[in-house]
Amino acid sequence: MRSDEWWKKAVVYQIYPRSFADSDGDGMGDLRGVIDHLDHLAELGVDVLWFSPIYPSPQDDNGYDISDYQDIEPLFGDLATFDELLAGVHHRGMKLIMDLVVNHSSDEHAWFQESRSSKDGPKRDWYWWRPARDGMEPGTPGAEPTNWGSVFGGPAWEYDEKTGEYYLHLFSRKQPDLNWENPEVREAVYAMMRWWLDRGVDGFRMDVINMISKDTSLPDGRLSAGTAYADGSAAYVGGPRLHEFLQEMHREVFAGREGLLTVGEMPGVTVDEARLHTDPARQEIDMVFQFDHVWVDRGTDPWMLQPLQLTKLKAILGRWQAGLADLGWNSLYWNNHDQPRVVSRYGDDGPEHRVASAKMLGAVLHLHRGTPYVYQGEELGMTNYPFGGIEDFRDIEALGHYRQALDLEGRTPDEVLTVLRARGRDNARTPMQWDASPQAGFTTGTPWLAVNPNHREINAAAQRDDPDSVFHWYRQLIELRHTEPVVAGGDFTMLLPNDERLYAFTRRLDDTELLVIGNFTGETVGAEIEDAAAWSSAELLLTNAAAPDDLRLGPWQVVVYRRTVRR
Ligand code: GLC
Repeated sequence: MRSDEWWKKAVVYQIYPRSFADSDGDGMGDLRGVIDHLDHLAELGVDVLWFSPIYPSPQDDNGYDISDYQDIEPLFGDLATFDELLAGVHHRGMKLIMDLVVNHSSDEHAWFQESRSSKDGPKRDWYWWRPARDGMEPGTPGAEPTNWGSVFGGPAWEYDEKTGEYYLHLFSRKQPDLNWENPEVREAVYAMMRWWLDRGVDGFRMDVINMISKDTSLPDGRLSAGTAYADGSAAYVGGPRLHEFLQEMHREVFAGREGLLTVGEMPGVTVDEARLHTDPARQEIDMVFQFDHVWVDRGTDPWMLQPLQLTKLKAILGRWQAGLADLGWNSLYWNNHDQPRVVSRYGDDGPEHRVASAKMLGAVLHLHRGTPYVYQGEELGMTNYPFGGIEDFRDIEALGHYRQALDLEGRTPDEVLTVLRARGRDNARTPMQWDASPQAGFTTGTPWLAVNPNHREINAAAQRDDPDSVFHWYRQLIELRHTEPVVAGGDFTMLLPNDERLYAFTRRLDDTELLVIGNFTGETVGAEIEDAAAWSSAELLLTNAAAPDDLRLGPWQVVVYRRTVRR
């Protein structure tokens, strides 16, 4: 393993700052709150902290709408507190990466204010401005320059009366897309990135980075039945100049700097594209976040619910493991601030099986080849929130989808709420559960989003004292990656691809081999694998229940065996 690929042995922890810890009682997490809890993260043993955006922002999309890239959101603190936080992170031997959101800015960013002010100003072309569709009255329904829908509901274009044109926003109307075709935009972004690296940060997680290059002809998308707007993604996902832009960014920002981590969020990326993006020789980025394995239970439409089919999940993750085996690198995640909690989604969050299934899911993920990401609270087995009506949700995506589905797509509130309760992003965003006190130790005030009532049972304080907790299980998984070379460096072989109940694979490096089997059901299931007798007498490295007889795994059990093989 090359020394500049230190992140192959690393585990990253994601902090969603507004929900992590509130130090001043305003109900909103902040940087001082993170400083106060750094020892929790050091004890867990993670190597890198990724912060969701902490820059000044109108908070239309909880900070993914940035109005100043070179400062700190006052709700969260200031640059001096940030420097103190960064020093505290480095002091504990961890690194810190920032969220880089440059597909779009906030509409309140000075760049956009200037761009919007006149048709011929110097920054007009920093964003995507277009006139109304030919022959249509500007500002009337259907006159938008393309038929694309925005990710958060409604059209992807907003009419701006001031100059009588529309601007593109793939996300909310307060998130206008930056025009990466313009070299001045790119230079401004690179300068800002260098400024953060000079300040001491260790890299970037790059928000929807595979959308920065658009087909400049902006073609209409295909409309599918029952939806109000078309899917325009063919024109902007993995667009024509994406590789060129990432290589330029590498040259302009990363070249000559060491010890960095770059990970690109890329919804819709293919394995072949990911190989290109992460091939070290091509000098783009270190790894990508793909979405296939979290889209496995959603059917053809993102807002459809389908039960998990384990064989599909294995086929997907197996394809990614194989595709990036000899070139490039995988990132591994079940959770982030956009996904429901995995124990509620692919596990069983009821009292009987929550702990076992959270541990099983953690072990299966962490023992794949790739860099694992832990999302805050995942190390406690935090669950989805018991949402009632739409008034319980805060997320712009949930609210936008609700309106569009009811007003334009003929859905009933019950139908839409059922989906939002299972899939809504707010499931991941409820406050971190530190202890059993009334607001879970998150705040002394009123939290911006309700604390999950199950914090009385599920919280960090209780788990730190309990060696059998999900917390200590994650601690062990992270330690294993650091100490057992096969975890980071071994090759990967999927077993039992047609089994709907067991997830099984081996890892191998030199003469060390691991066998991992996870039971994705609440029943006892026997694993019919080759060599079962030999394996069941091998060293049982980890399990979340009693040692099994003959590889018969109890409900949600996971086993990890290790053996030495002759070459
Ligand atoms: C990414 C972020 C998500 C955000 C969107 C727009 O997908 O993870 O939270 O809403 O980009 O920035």
